[in-house]
Amino acid sequence: MTMHPDAYMTGFGNEFATEAIPGALPVGRNSPQAAPYGLYAEQLTGTAFTAPRHANRRSWLYRIRPAAVHGEFEPFAQAHFHNRFGNEPTTPAQLRWDPRPLPTQPTDFFDGLFTVAGNGSPAAQSGIGIHLYAANRSMQTRFFCNADGELLIVPQQGRLRIDTELGVLEVEPQQIALIPRGIRFRVGLPDGHARGYVCENFGAPFKLPDLGPIGSNGLANPRDFQFPVAAYEDVDGAFELVTKFQGHLWRAAMDHSPLDVVAWHGNCAPCRYDLRRFNTIGSISYDHPDPSIFLVLHSPSDTPGTSNVDFAIFPPRWLVAQDTFRPPWFHRNIASEFMGLVHGIYDAKAEGFLPGGCSLHNCMTGHGPDAATFEKASRADLSKPDVVADTMAFMFETRAVIHPTAQALAAPERQQHYIECWQGLRKHFSPPA
Ligand SMILES: [Fe+2]
Repeated sequence: MTMHPDAYMTGFGNEFATEAIPGALPVGRNSPQAAPYGLYAEQLTGTAFTAPRHANRRSWLYRIRPAAVHGEFEPFAQAHFHNRFGNEPTTPAQLRWDPRPLPTQPTDFFDGLFTVAGNGSPAAQSGIGIHLYAANRSMQTRFFCNADGELLIVPQQGRLRIDTELGVLEVEPQQIALIPRGIRFRVGLPDGHARGYVCENFGAPFKLPDLGPIGSNGLANPRDFQFPVAAYEDVDGAFELVTKFQGHLWRAAMDHSPLDVVAWHGNCAPCRYDLRRFNTIGSISYDHPDPSIFLVLHSPSDTPGTSNVDFAIFPPRWLVAQDTFRPPWFHRNIASEFMGLVHGIYDAKAEGFLPGGCSLHNCMTGHGPDAATFEKASRADLSKPDVVADTMAFMFETRAVIHPTAQALAAPERQQHYIECWQGLRKHFSPPA
């Protein structure tokens, strides 16, 4: 039986129940003496057993074989995908890269992962890995499982069909996929090629932010997060399970597909979200709110109000503030900022930041609009609103410094002269005589 998608259940944090065959879900208990249809019951937890109820994540899976049924693990390497960041002195310089080209050799999603930067470690359960992917072949007999963290996938070019243990996610550019730690999956490429970004979150699972005075609506609304219905495949054959564990890769042979979950219930599950549904909020008088107003999801740290990682977006929006420099202002933050561009033009830069490209501005590194943008916005007619249309930029922002990898610093896509975009900022100071 092949997996069939097309149906989603909605609501971030909801407790879902779904079965690909009627009657496959046990009723009234999670682990009956014998599960229906000869299925095995298996629990997957995404938080500590004793996490508060509002933060607790777990799902019960009813599957053809338990996850324990596979061959011996052996070490495995994919040279460009790793968690080796921070071994060398990290430059405080502003960094920017052009898009990575699509591969010329057959390359699947896993082989096409390229680690750009990161901080913390899976061992510390804190920090993130930041990776790019570029692929031109669907995963066929290979499945991937990341025990080190949750994966936030941001497609930039080409659709992805992500077959997971809990069902099928179809995502396109301007949508995101969120795959909990430990879920096994396979990535297909309906368009024959794909490129994008991945945030590997070693910390607490992503959640929706509290809204405070914004009220009960706004930003990313819970009902726009879509979770797959159960779908399974009962297929025997020669398969490979690649697992990332404590920063290293392992592989084991399997004689059947691991996507054999016929029914599941719970709230630990993959989902997708369309960034175009974000309810963008901003100033209608003067100044800008801080960019936290663009927060889609965040992974809290142990310090209240301070995230392990924030995922923010810069979507289309109106700029109406009066007596205000309307583009993003010049700034230095204690947080560190990795940015990507999915689509269109980012309003703080006149040129050089391309869809598929990325930039890194670390803790206390000065940055902001380039000279061309500053000169134009300083003289703009504010009697009319501006619209930032047809754009989608995003940011992975972390409390800890983001260390670029050696391979990213040496990549031909790195822009060696990025700093020059600010050199044209002239001195305008003219004190009274
Ligand atoms: Fe910034």
